[in-house]
Amino acid sequence: MFTAAKPIESAQETPHGGLLDRLQRHLLRLPTAPVAAHTQAAFEALQRDLGLSPGALILDSGCGTGESTRNLAERHPEAWVVGVDKSADRLGRHRADLPGNARLLRAELGDFWRCAMAAGWRLKAHYLPYPNPWPKARHYKRRWPAHPAFPWLLGLGGDLEVRSNWRLYLEEWQVVLEDLGVGSTLTTVPPDTASPLSPFEAKYLASGHGCYALRAALGSGGIPAPSWSAYQARCEAPEVFSRPALTAILAALPAAHPQRETLAEALAAPPLRKPAGHRGGEASDFLPCDLGPGGREALRETLEQALEQGGEGGDHPALRLALRALRSR
Ligand SMILES: C[S@@+](CC[C@H](N)C(=O)[O-])C[C@H]1O[C@@H](n2cnc3c(N)ncnc32)[C@H](O)[C@@H]1O
Repeated sequence: MFTAAKPIESAQETPHGGLLDRLQRHLLRLPTAPVAAHTQAAFEALQRDLGLSPGALILDSGCGTGESTRNLAERHPEAWVVGVDKSADRLGRHRADLPGNARLLRAELGDFWRCAMAAGWRLKAHYLPYPNPWPKARHYKRRWPAHPAFPWLLGLGGDLEVRSNWRLYLEEWQVVLEDLGVGSTLTTVPPDTASPLSPFEAKYLASGHGCYALRAALGSGGIPAPSWSAYQARCEAPEVFSRPALTAILAALPAAHPQRETLAEALAAPPLRKPAGHRGGEASDFLPCDLGPGGREALRETLEQALEQGGEGGDHPALRLALRALRSR
């Protein structure tokens, strides 16, 4: 028996005001936590299956039961069509007779996109049919355009198509893409379409919902650089240090100081990504280092004591540079 889908309910009426801030934050620093082992293994098995130069690739991200993967594979016999979903249950319900150019894979999408980028993949097309739009405003950070993995999606390039029964969700994609200089179109999926792309589309159309498709050409991909204004603002944040300042602080710190490890980790981590046209080398790097509540003051006091104990005559340039960095904000 057919159960009608509930219409989307949200108190949010306009694109969320925090989206662009999140986008820039994520472009400034890409995730560094290790990829989940099961996704890495699934990706490597896929690579062995498709070969190292697989040709045209189409990704169906969040493919559910794989119906859309099947439909896309039938429409694009010239390409591999890879459906990815994290739900073993949904994937387990796929029909047995998938076309030969279709593959289904269980993986976490953010990690999968990252593996695909690391392997040098560039997509012909990227479909996201009916991703969960997280309609509560307070959950907006879970939506893909506000997600830390979004830069990987952009990086994979290709002709992007996202579908949703919540128009505002797709308008948010448009806001974010426009900020990156990527034009997009938003169209209505014909309510009487004979061939819905996916089971969710079929269910929503049968329930009388409006369904919409956002399309954008991401071209040959590559992760966009952050904006100058976001970069400058972040470099001035209290928990962000220049590479020379962080190096000087570490050099001046007593060997057993409890903040040493935090500072050394920050120094070894990738610096903030620089905006397009930035010409500075390593010495102009900025590195976030969260010293925790009161950590900065405690560090400053330690270094001030060290300077006092260092005696009158000493020059102590590293100490002075370190203290200047700690006092400056
Ligand atoms: C609303 S369903 C849509 C399924 C299918 N695309 C359709 O249109 O019928 C969203 C799908 O995205 C998958 N999904 C959500 N977040 C995911 C993630 N981070 N990684 C992998 N799959 C995810 C869910 O398991 C679910 O199958």
